[in-house]
Amino acid sequence: MLPDSALQQQQQQLWFSLVFHSIETEVPFWGSFSEGPSVSWASNEACCDCPPCNVGWEPVGGGSRISVGQHQLGVSSVSWEACGGVAVVVSVGSWPSVVFLPPSWPPGIGFSNGETWRQLRQFATATLCSLEERIQERIQEEAGFLVESLWSMKGRPLDPSRLLSRVTTNILCSVAFGSRFDYEDEEFLRFIHLLEENARLQSCTMTKACSGAAAGATGNHRWVYNVFPSVLDYCPGSHQTIFKNTNELKQFISRRVKKEAPQPGTPRGFIDAFLLKMEQEKWNSRSAFSPQSLERSTLDLFVAGAESTSLVLKYMLLALMKYPEVQEKVRQDIDRVIGPSQTPCLADLSQMPYTDAVIHEVHRSLALVPLNVPHAVTKDTLFRQYLIPKGTTIFPALKASLYDKAEFPHPERFDPGHFLDGKGALRKSEFFIPFSIGQRACLGERMASVTIFVCLATLLQHFRLRPHVPPEELDLSPTVGFLTTAPKPYQLSLDPRW
Ligand code: HEM
Repeated sequence: MLPDSALQQQQQQLWFSLVFHSIETEVPFWGSFSEGPSVSWASNEACCDCPPCNVGWEPVGGGSRISVGQHQLGVSSVSWEACGGVAVVVSVGSWPSVVFLPPSWPPGIGFSNGETWRQLRQFATATLCSLEERIQERIQEEAGFLVESLWSMKGRPLDPSRLLSRVTTNILCSVAFGSRFDYEDEEFLRFIHLLEENARLQSCTMTKACSGAAAGATGNHRWVYNVFPSVLDYCPGSHQTIFKNTNELKQFISRRVKKEAPQPGTPRGFIDAFLLKMEQEKWNSRSAFSPQSLERSTLDLFVAGAESTSLVLKYMLLALMKYPEVQEKVRQDIDRVIGPSQTPCLADLSQMPYTDAVIHEVHRSLALVPLNVPHAVTKDTLFRQYLIPKGTTIFPALKASLYDKAEFPHPERFDPGHFLDGKGALRKSEFFIPFSIGQRACLGERMASVTIFVCLATLLQHFRLRPHVPPEELDLSPTVGFLTTAPKPYQLSLDPRW
């Protein structure tokens, strides 16, 4: 246990984080800060010109601030109504080590800043763009395997989670390695297991870290990790499992990299393209392209893209079962534009405004990353009447925008009408930002969109989705992890259409 005075000292250094509507920063924050802005801490009082702050997850209360359930790191407990587009404050523990990375772990796309990030991001964006056609073909192929697996279920009920995560992980395997795995391949299943276990442990570690801080539970070693990361490197705990898993994931990717050799001509996948880039840049001492950043950047694609896309797909199937009339209208769209046997492609969606609106509403309603990932302010920033000092951690609240009452009447309701105009055409909204905005916005938005549409259309070409309870008993309200939300577990059956 830390003595009270030490705790107080730590608390005085607690950083407050801002949750606000617009995104004026570019640097996402991962790992530990070495220093924070110099602010004096005072419970429930404004410090300098900064927005008022508080410690932990106690209700902040009042006015333009949001309230957070006591001692919970549950974003669902945030009262979004209170945001109203105004700067709001939640405080989190200091040095919020969101992702527990060993110090030796090299930077990839999602975990770097500055020149390294710029080079890696530019390369990844260009590569995914040049592979776009090939990626769509891979997704179509994977959607075929999804349907094949579902046929083999012969209408038996299933929880689709495992199958969907195999589908989305395999799509990324095709994109990264240029080839896919059999769904029962042991190496592949181990890879998925490690990714999922890390996501789960990270979420639970962070939850405990912050709830520990909120409750003043200084004996909680996870909280201590945020303050003394180097000490905890030598202590047992779930963060050690994360390190171990991460090393195994790295080895998996490294084995795949060794199988690839840069070939002239069009690269077959991300790794192929990266190896070519490394070769081109081998004389450049400032190059960000190294075997280590290749492994980390490849892993970043899986960490950011596999579970996120499968959760959205899972939520979409649930929504379609809860609202059979929506499912029926999407099916009609598919029959009209694509037909029973043609392979769906993203271009079809432009002729299917209702289906497009449903997909938008799925993203909006789920709000997969409600508080986005933490960013840090790159310079002193004046926001409304508040000065946000350079380096402050902020959480740009995507959900505040996705649930804006003026833009989406009855935001708690699942209603594709939120994205349709009076003539049934797609209504675009600048409040629709599930992939975030700005330079650090999601790199995989296009890939995720193709995956979601092609899987949906292929599924409904073949099946009707049937729930195992009356539709009104299905619960669309998501469960909450640290960074992401997820649909509650459910069972579905698929009735063949033909
Ligand atoms: C429905 C699925 C997805 C959603 C809702 C989603 C959402 C997000 C969000 C909110 C961010 C943080 C943006 C920010 O920092 O402001 C992000 C970052 C990122 N996403 Fe996605 N994502 C999805 C799928 C994917 C896929 C399939 C990939 C794989 C290619 C991917 C790769 C990334 C990467 C690499 C970053 C970090 C970008 C950077 O820091 O420059 N995401 N995503």
